Amino acid sequence: MCGITGYLGGKDAYPVLVDGLKQLEYRGYDSAGVALVSDSGKLNVYKEKGKVSDLEDYIGDKDRSGHVGIAHTRWATHGEPCARNAHPHVSASGRFAIVHNGIIENYSVIKENLERKGYVFSSSTDTEALVQLIDYMSSRQESSDTVSILQAALREVVGAYAIALIDMEHPDCLYAARKSSPLVIGIGDGEFYLASDVNPVASYTEHVIFLEDEEIAQMCCGEPLRIVNLANDECRHEVTTVPKSLGKVQKGGFGHYMLKEIYEQPDCIRDCMRGRVNIEDKTVFMSAVHEHRDRLLSAGRFIIVACGTSWHAGLIGKQLFENLCQIPTEVAYASEFRYSNPVVGSRDVVFAISQSGETADTLAAVELARSKGAFVYGICNAVGSSIPRSTDTGSYIHVGPEIGVASTKAFTGQVTVLTMIALDLAREKHSIADSVYHEIVGELARIPYKMKSALRSDERIAALSGIFTYARNFIYLGRGYSYPVALEGALKLKEISYIHAEGYPAAEMKHGPIALIDEEMPVVIIATRNALYGKVLSNVQEIKARKGRVIAVVSEGDDVISRIADTVIEVPSSLECLDPLLSTIPLQLLAYHIAVCKGKDVDRPRNLAKSVTVE
Ligand code: F6R
Repeated sequence: MCGITGYLGGKDAYPVLVDGLKQLEYRGYDSAGVALVSDSGKLNVYKEKGKVSDLEDYIGDKDRSGHVGIAHTRWATHGEPCARNAHPHVSASGRFAIVHNGIIENYSVIKENLERKGYVFSSSTDTEALVQLIDYMSSRQESSDTVSILQAALREVVGAYAIALIDMEHPDCLYAARKSSPLVIGIGDGEFYLASDVNPVASYTEHVIFLEDEEIAQMCCGEPLRIVNLANDECRHEVTTVPKSLGKVQKGGFGHYMLKEIYEQPDCIRDCMRGRVNIEDKTVFMSAVHEHRDRLLSAGRFIIVACGTSWHAGLIGKQLFENLCQIPTEVAYASEFRYSNPVVGSRDVVFAISQSGETADTLAAVELARSKGAFVYGICNAVGSSIPRSTDTGSYIHVGPEIGVASTKAFTGQVTVLTMIALDLAREKHSIADSVYHEIVGELARIPYKMKSALRSDERIAALSGIFTYARNFIYLGRGYSYPVALEGALKLKEISYIHAEGYPAAEMKHGPIALIDEEMPVVIIATRNALYGKVLSNVQEIKARKGRVIAVVSEGDDVISRIADTVIEVPSSLECLDPLLSTIPLQLLAYHIAVCKGKDVDRPRNLAKSVTVE
């Protein structure tokens, strides 16, 4: 939610800032803005509604000079998306310019107090309240030291913030602070980079620092980085070296990041398994599992917390943990878990799944679980993000940066990691026979190849997608391991095509949704060959009897459902517990192509942001 960039150094700041914003657009894209300390010493602020490219068009050949600057791409929380509400916001005196990610929860109290003191507000944002508060604090302090002004202001703030600040009394410096919203500082040769995630920074330097909660960073020309906390203690940080593979991500010839990421899945899943799955002896080794073996095996139960697509992966995780490891597992939406006063204790292990590692609700669920004594295991993609840094242990999914707002490769990466954890634990626990263990691992190792062949249905799906643009509703059905896949397929369609879609366990259809079925209603059903195949076949017949239009995802060579369904999409056969890794792919492609046929902005669907850092 909102992306921030900042730069101070020898380069022209503008291209660095805008380049960074483009990499952060997945976090929000309803307006954008930039503030630069120009070569003539003036503060230039440019803001525009829409995407970063709209901002660039608006700026055109206006004065873009300067070596110090901050920039922002917005996902609106307070105040409609428009240039007036776009960041940076400038304080009444003109001294401070700020960009902010997060929510200032007590902004209305701050605003009212400041209005009583004569401050006039020009936007409807919570951020403007913060910059005016900083301005007010500066007027009350004798010293013009920006850090102490910021400390005084931030002590008054309730909520979440990652901020970058320019103080025109110190135009050769840049300031940053964070609480519950991410901020990364890149350290170059006599220069500093700031960003909401590591990717824009990694394009320029490998040396980064992840700012911690309630810390303030001061970056000044020719001076070393200084970090203090709100209590004014100096803070020491290890400089982290980020992998060179991070950095700018391109579409690589694909029309959209989402399609590129769908196609990357065979390679990503291979990367995810690298060093963990041994193909020769068909074994799995997850270092976190072995490091904490006893803690995990002695758990009374597992609880999985996540949001959205990651929650769907968690539903598959539950089946894996229960079927393979015989460990009772609950799955909770992180947003519900955190406010439900959950009964969690020191014998519980909580798995937190998050692509971004920054989802506010999941992070809060982690903190709550730890405060209640649970052991917390993170499953994340974004390296160095907040969740992996606040859990007891974890496993990265290693699928590389996911830019498309609709999650694709992260989902299959999460399911792969959950499968490997379950297999490793099952072996340690002897809850499955060795032969079954080796059979599943062997098949898991073949999944990347099978994903490649699942992708071959792309052309057919593209061709048939045009038929469904008329639809206003879709139903997705699946049973067992395929039920979360149905939920995920429905979510993908909703997100990017804006067609209403519901996912159900196939048998639940009779308890209500069947009333919706008529000749207009497309029903996507996952009917791969497994133990529940016969039952799913009956469900297909029930839909056809009511003239529903069935699109069935079947195992290669299926000649039963293919005779009844209107359309079949084949995926390679696999073991039941690994089916989701394959049957998800046609559903991703279906959602993608329908959205493209409808002319939707696939990578930047309306109202969404990739990283939901506010609750
Ligand atoms: C759907 C999607 C979202 C995320 C959810 C959680 O395509 O991307 O539903 O899955 O916002 O995000 P993370 O996994 O970053 O915690």
